[in-house]
Amino acid sequence: MHKSFKMMSVMALSAGLATTAILMPNAANSQDAGERAMEARQGLMKLVVWEAGPLFGMASGDMAYDAGAASAHAANLAALSQYPYSGLFLPGTSQADHPGKSCALADIWDDTAKVDQVYKDFQAKVATLVEVAGDGQPALAAAVSEMGKACGSCHKPFRAKDDSKPFGLCVPDR
Ligand code: HEC
Repeated sequence: MHKSFKMMSVMALSAGLATTAILMPNAANSQDAGERAMEARQGLMKLVVWEAGPLFGMASGDMAYDAGAASAHAANLAALSQYPYSGLFLPGTSQADHPGKSCALADIWDDTAKVDQVYKDFQAKVATLVEVAGDGQPALAAAVSEMGKACGSCHKPFRAKDDSKPFGLCVPDR
């Protein structure tokens, strides 16, 4: 009697552990959704700057102009610009909520119409860039300058400042 009771407890305990093991990844995922969204949108921005960097370089003359490379970077940027970025701004993921991990200002959640507007403007500037990227350095430089302003039009209201970082803009601690 005593023995079988003990046996049952062991069985109940292992069943409980198994259930915990199955449920845990889900619990962890839902807990970390905000964190994963922050990393994903920062990753998207890193891809944006990965493609935009050489274009800024060719526009300023720091890098030799190459029509093929410029067109390829512009096309990649256009693909990235089509991603529905605003879906990555989960509630509770502003800089105020996660200092050091998020550089997103709370106004993103307060003024979604403006976020949509600046993002659409960015998409339009990238679309123009795609059209002219292969048409020579001066045409590229003009379109890159316009696109750069569109990055700024979003960063100014919606990305936190940090004077100790490049361009005075916040970058998460990593
Ligand atoms: C619609 C708004 C918007 C546009 C357009 C935009 N950004 Fe951003 N960017 C943000 C926000 C918001 C953050 C902060 C995100 C965070 O910390 O969660 C950010 C962060 C960044 C970061 C830091 C990424 C990191 O975490 O290391 C870089 C680099 C960057 N942007 C570059 C650019 C460049 C270059 C352009 C234009 C070609 C651009 N962004 C266009 C909103 C925008």
